[in-house]
This record gives sequence, structure tokens and C-alpha cells, in this order.
Amino acid sequence: VKMTQDELKKMVGLAALPFIKPGMKIGLGTGSTVKHLVDGLGKRMREEGLQVTCVTTSSITTRQANELGIPLVGLDDVDHLDLTIDGADQVDENFNGIKGGGGSMLWEKIVNTASDQNIWIVDESKLTERIGSFGVPVEIVPYGASHVFRRLEQKGLKPTWRLAKDSDQLYRTDENNVIIDVHPGPIDDVNALDQELINMVGVVEHGLFIQRINDIIIGREQGPETIHV
Ligand code: A5P
Repeated sequence: VKMTQDELKKMVGLAALPFIKPGMKIGLGTGSTVKHLVDGLGKRMREEGLQVTCVTTSSITTRQANELGIPLVGLDDVDHLDLTIDGADQVDENFNGIKGGGGSMLWEKIVNTASDQNIWIVDESKLTERIGSFGVPVEIVPYGASHVFRRLEQKGLKPTWRLAKDSDQLYRTDENNVIIDVHPGPIDDVNALDQELINMVGVVEHGLFIQRINDIIIGREQGPETIHV
């Protein structure tokens, strides 16, 4: 029988657990894949008495960690992180990816940058030759956001406003910014798009993660495959 996508997500969430060693400072990502990791981490802390210091990348993960009794500190309470484990929405052949399907790419990129080692956990459906068929989220300061939207339109990037779930209101990030998703289609030059987006006035951050990971764990039918990048 074929495994469901969520079973593959759970497979890689649990496969990442052995990377977490006692005493480490850990960054916890966001999303339905990371949710399985955090569940597993909570279990190890309860059952083995494993002690680690954790920082989260979103209010969603903070809530889950709090429910599980996983102690959290703020990113500014640590001078660095040893390891961050996060999901991704699409990953290309060079292990560049798109993140922010859940809207948390700003804090995710900040935590990724603060971390000595970064691991992504993804089911195999996320792999593609060229990324970009999944929209690239762009986090925008609310002030004058419609002007940024029009500039993205003029650049041919096919912007759409991110809306809150089951609502016609704009989605708000943990920093109270808004998100415009752009739809470039399979991207020829990820570095060029990265530079184009980050250099626009009003843009805070975007979901292209270029050369930001050390390892990736891919959930396949046959089992988890870990690749050192
Ligand atoms: C959250 O904003 C994202 O960057 C997630 O890491 C990404 O969307 C992966 O999510 P899933 O694990 O739910 O697919």
C-alpha cells in the first residue's frame, strides 16, 4: 500500500530526532512536517529526560511546544543555535527551496541564519528540478503594500494577496506584516529573483532559501533518505 503524504511527513519528522543531542540549542521550524518532529521531541524529553534548549520560528510552533511542556527561550537569549530542523514547500536539484507556505519564512530565515547546522525534512513530493511552480511568499510592510503589489505585477511576477484562512481579510504574519505570493513558474535564476525581491522597498523578506541547508531528509516509500548537501 502506498503511504500517505502525512505518513511520509511523520517518517521524516521522526527520522530527524537522532540529530538532536543532549544540551543542544535547537531551532524548531514550522509546518505539518515539523509538527511530527516536535511531537517526537516532546516524547523524548518526557521518556528519556532529554534536555535541550529550543527556539521556535512561529507562534504556531510556540503553541505546540508549550502544550507539550518543551521549554523555550527567545532567539535573543542565545548567542547561536546548534541545529535547526525545518520543512520546505519545494526543493530543487541544488537543494535550494521555497518556504513560507505557512507564512513563517521571515522568522524561519532569521533562525536558519543563527544556526550552525540546518536540516530540512520533506516528503518526496516536494522535490522538483526547478522550484517556482509553488508560489514564492513575499513579506511586505503593510504601509503602501498595494504599491509593492503593482510593482510585482509590472515585473510579470503574477502577485496574489495571501488571505487569512476562511476569510477575505489579509493574512498577518507573526510580525504583523502582510504576504504577497508571487507566481514566477519554474525559476531559471533563483539568485536573480532573490536579489530582485529583497531589493524592493517595502519587502521585508521572501521565501526563497538559497544554499541554506547542510542536510536534507527525504521521505520516500522505501524509507527516509538523508543527503548531506
Ligand atoms: C512555514 O511557513 C513553511 O516554511 C513550512 O516550513 C513549509 O510550508 C512546509 O510545510 P509543511 O511541512 O506543512 O508541508
